[in-house]
Amino acid sequence: MVQIFTTTPRIVMGPGSIKSLGDEIKNRGIKKVLIVTDKGVIGAGLAKPVEESLKAAKISYAVFDGVEPDPRYEIVADCVAMAKKERTKLLVGLGGGSPIDIAKTTAIMLTNEGPIGKYFGVNLVPRPGIPTVMVPTTAGTGSEVTPIAILSDEGEKLKKGVVSPHLYPAAGFLDPELTLKLPPPVTAATGMDALIHAIEAYTSINANGMTDMFCLRAMGLIYENLRTAYAKGDNLPARTAMMEGALLAGIGFANAGVTAVHAFAYPIGAEFHIPHGIANTLMLPHVIRFNVLGNLPKFAGIAKPFGIPTAGMDDLHIVDRVVEAIDRLADDIRVPRHLSQYGIKEKDIPMLAEGVMKVTRLLANNPRTLTLDDAKAIYKAAL
Ligand SMILES: [Fe+2]
Repeated sequence: MVQIFTTTPRIVMGPGSIKSLGDEIKNRGIKKVLIVTDKGVIGAGLAKPVEESLKAAKISYAVFDGVEPDPRYEIVADCVAMAKKERTKLLVGLGGGSPIDIAKTTAIMLTNEGPIGKYFGVNLVPRPGIPTVMVPTTAGTGSEVTPIAILSDEGEKLKKGVVSPHLYPAAGFLDPELTLKLPPPVTAATGMDALIHAIEAYTSINANGMTDMFCLRAMGLIYENLRTAYAKGDNLPARTAMMEGALLAGIGFANAGVTAVHAFAYPIGAEFHIPHGIANTLMLPHVIRFNVLGNLPKFAGIAKPFGIPTAGMDDLHIVDRVVEAIDRLADDIRVPRHLSQYGIKEKDIPMLAEGVMKVTRLLANNPRTLTLDDAKAIYKAAL
């Protein structure tokens, strides 16, 4: 089987790594950049180390802070207008997944004809964009190493993806010091998202030896460190491990894809405005229980990075332990566990299940074939 592996060509990581951002950009011969971010990131003081590094390297910059959570695709046009006005040659995406995804899509819309709606789908972007450098401030999305941007279509109440190799950033700067003040609920939701990326890519039908290597280490790092990062946010070793875990999970899923957990999370996220990591966690145990039959040895293999003893046990019982461990982790870090906690009722299930069946891009990676009735039963179990 032909296998292709791609990732962001340059990763600069570790505590203090943000200090070299300015030199990285200067070495590319670029003197003017636009920082793409949101008001929460600015309010948390996280733009400051980025600006200081740019100033030290004598790079001038402007700031677009109009990104919102689950950004509407219309925001891309606002960001493009500012990038044109400022004659920007490179975009710095600073924040969680949303600013990074807006930076990715803005970069390609500066070199391709609009509107952005033409490019929802896979491999539809004709030309590379201007270069981007991503600075994640959560250990979650892995968007700094994926060719994917997710935007909300409010009209259709859907999340839509642009997937193109032209979305790969030129570099990622992963400084765990930027995550030390992340509040516990955000640490929990983004950390679970990263763990789910690793689990889903590991059990995707497109997984291979290389992606497994990244996913297994990601699962171990996140499972061992998420509780500590949640309980003691300024624990730098735990934050550093989480950042590496989220990065490796991102590399894994950029190449093997995520599966049905994300497919189930999109309709509830778009319809009921549930944060992405929480939407995924709500669905995770129920989708795993369904998916297990599709690749039992692989699901049992999750026990190893989790450190679950399995001597003398068969794979079915090992998988039970894996699901128990996930339930316990989600409970420990107080992630909501039932759709009803978000006002979702049984009468909403048919519409949500129809929504899942439309996420064909992800269902194609799923280890078990899913029908509309299966989708309804899984949502019902998650109520
Ligand atoms: Fe995700």
